[in-house]
Amino acid sequence: MSRQLFVTTALPYANGNFHIGHIMEYIQADIWVRYQKMMGNAVDFVCADDTHGAPIMIAAEKAGITPQQFVANIAAGRKPYLDGFHIGFDNWHSTDAPENHELARQIYRDLRDNKDGSLIETRTIEQFFDPQKNMFLPDRFIKGECPKCHAKDQYGDNCENCGAVYAPTDLINPFSALSGAKPELKSSEHFFFKLSDPRCVAFLEQWTQDGKLQPEVANKIKEWFSVRTNPDGSKSEGLGDWDISRDAPYFGIEIPDAPGKYFYVWLDAPIGYLASLKNLLGKRAALDPQSPDYDTYMVNPELEQYHFIGKDIVTFHTLFWPATLHFSGRKTPNNVFVHGFLTVNNGEKMSKSRGTGLDPLKYLSLGMNPEWLRYYLAAKLSARNEDIDFNADDFMARVNSDLIGKFVNIASRAAGFLTKRFDGKLGDVSEDGAALLHQLRIERTSIELLYESREYAKALRETMLLADRVNAYVDANKPWDLAKKPDQEARLQDVCTVCIKAFRILTCYLKPVLPALAAEVEQFLAIEPLSFTNIADPLQTGHVIGNYQHLMQRVDVKQLDALFEPAAQGEQAQAATESTATTKPGDKKAAKAAAPATPIDPTAPGGEALAPTISIDDFAKIDLRIAKIVQCQAVAGSTKLLQLTLDVGEVDEAGQPKTRNVFSGIASCYQPDDLTGKLTVLVANLAPRKMKFGVSEGMVLAASHADEKAQPGIYVLEPFAGAQPGMRIH
Ligand code: MSP
Ligand code: ZN
Repeated sequence: MSRQLFVTTALPYANGNFHIGHIMEYIQADIWVRYQKMMGNAVDFVCADDTHGAPIMIAAEKAGITPQQFVANIAAGRKPYLDGFHIGFDNWHSTDAPENHELARQIYRDLRDNKDGSLIETRTIEQFFDPQKNMFLPDRFIKGECPKCHAKDQYGDNCENCGAVYAPTDLINPFSALSGAKPELKSSEHFFFKLSDPRCVAFLEQWTQDGKLQPEVANKIKEWFSVRTNPDGSKSEGLGDWDISRDAPYFGIEIPDAPGKYFYVWLDAPIGYLASLKNLLGKRAALDPQSPDYDTYMVNPELEQYHFIGKDIVTFHTLFWPATLHFSGRKTPNNVFVHGFLTVNNGEKMSKSRGTGLDPLKYLSLGMNPEWLRYYLAAKLSARNEDIDFNADDFMARVNSDLIGKFVNIASRAAGFLTKRFDGKLGDVSEDGAALLHQLRIERTSIELLYESREYAKALRETMLLADRVNAYVDANKPWDLAKKPDQEARLQDVCTVCIKAFRILTCYLKPVLPALAAEVEQFLAIEPLSFTNIADPLQTGHVIGNYQHLMQRVDVKQLDALFEPAAQGEQAQAATESTATTKPGDKKAAKAAAPATPIDPTAPGGEALAPTISIDDFAKIDLRIAKIVQCQAVAGSTKLLQLTLDVGEVDEAGQPKTRNVFSGIASCYQPDDLTGKLTVLVANLAPRKMKFGVSEGMVLAASHADEKAQPGIYVLEPFAGAQPGMRIH
């Protein structure tokens, strides 16, 4: 019987573009959803932007736009990532949408009016207030001296220097990070969800410990329930009540019957799952009156609800969220699937907001196949909550030797003979081939179970073992030899037919991971969409396959080099540091360490904060000259660089005019012809820098926005008419 599933991924904060960690979560969930659909199950897979909260409100204010505009700008950038990596959400919505406002308010009322006693309570608490901004300050916006180690300029919740965790009121000389003002303690009425209520504790102990959660997750949660003394002497109190309100001004949903009070973002964020679903069902019902509305859909006792999330937001999803649903009389999730964090090239954990290392859009713009990444991540993912690392060498090896070497090549080894010699017609299969195909087909159930339990690495390993068997069959039968023997025509067709049939089965097993490749295979084999329910062989003798076109390129090491090559402008910035920092010229690694990437600040001019003030003497150290671009050419092997030959009015010892060679990361925005013959500005006394393609003798000035994704474009500087090569810029 077919199942009805409602599946989500965590709702990303609408304060920045996706990073590779988000994409990993989406790929993990998307594979599961595609698998379910291939099993004939009905799945609604939704997500939304998580829009509310103080940080977004403050960022919007600094950018001079409304929070609504701010989050709309972010939402507008989502599609290229999702389409690019074949992530098939059925709906993308927003927690600021009307559905969410309504649902959040209703759920709150249901909690408040619970027939066995309200689960909402108000309490007056004291909090830091910014008298200049006229608002209560979130912990992250209060700074001061760490009470433990006395490091200055630490956040209100913990010290980045010594790691101490404390309350903002513990800070020495606290100040508001918004206005610099000294915060005042002010009392205010807050709304609490009574998680400590015995009904809640009993419910959650049962819900989290009944065996559905991953064992490592359930064990961790167990600790939160216990009242005990910790090794450091502090006391754990068990479940505490949860503060669910914030005072105006706040970008959020107003609490019913409480003017000026808003839901804390984490109250309405998961309700956004339901809001996105409701929005989807509404759109569907508008097209098809038979389609169920939200209420009908949710009362279906067979409905299964699953959330994919990262390990950092387990509390919200396994305590607050099920309690919110249960005590408001709603269905609770069937399960919450927790994954670990993705790191890149053994890197440090990525910063939550910015991520590092692997830029998803850059990956796509380099023409790298999204299914390489899907395959690679799947080959590393298990059902356990553990971190995984993207390693460039490992990536190349797995894609090239497994995915292409073992799987894709099966088709290319057989298809040519069938097309050239048999008009693409499949032949009869003799006993040995039939036995091989049988071995492949009987693995189906085991592979299904592995997908179902999110053991993707194992599912791929099993599939690759099957591919090994097929390759062994090819090697044993040597179609290339058979093709030379006129009396072996029938055997050649037989062997190639077996390969194609085997390839079809393997493609089916890989389809949740490789949907686009599978679609190409379906077209090439001229078959219906593959699914786990139609694995039985529809390829009859005489079936005609299409022309084989190469299905997938290998990963080229140059692409990986380019992927991890620092951004073009970043390169220039690094070169600039080399001249001032105490690093050896050309020592790229040291320069990298000395020059942390400029953080993107959407509120600052050009997206980055102004550099510290310098003296006129500092400026005089930089020798800027007018340069004429006498020649400009592309650089083979780099998508970023152009090679410029510059006339700066210099001569060599023999008195002959001398030019400079400069590499500049501007190829994404200029063709060589655009620049040849133009004047520009050169940093003429920058230490020469040895690059992969030659020595760069200076740096050409160009402007760009710090957020090159949101505002792409590089603008080379050009002087007013009359300037001559060699003139100094003062
Ligand atoms: N807005 C909240 C979630 C609300 S859900 C009702 C949030 N947003 S987030 O943008 O910070 O993170 C979204 C998801 O990405 C989370 O599941 C988080 O664990 C996941 N990841 C963030 N960084 C990650 C990695 N480096 N690796 C894998 N997943 C990561 O939290
Ligand atoms: Zn400290």
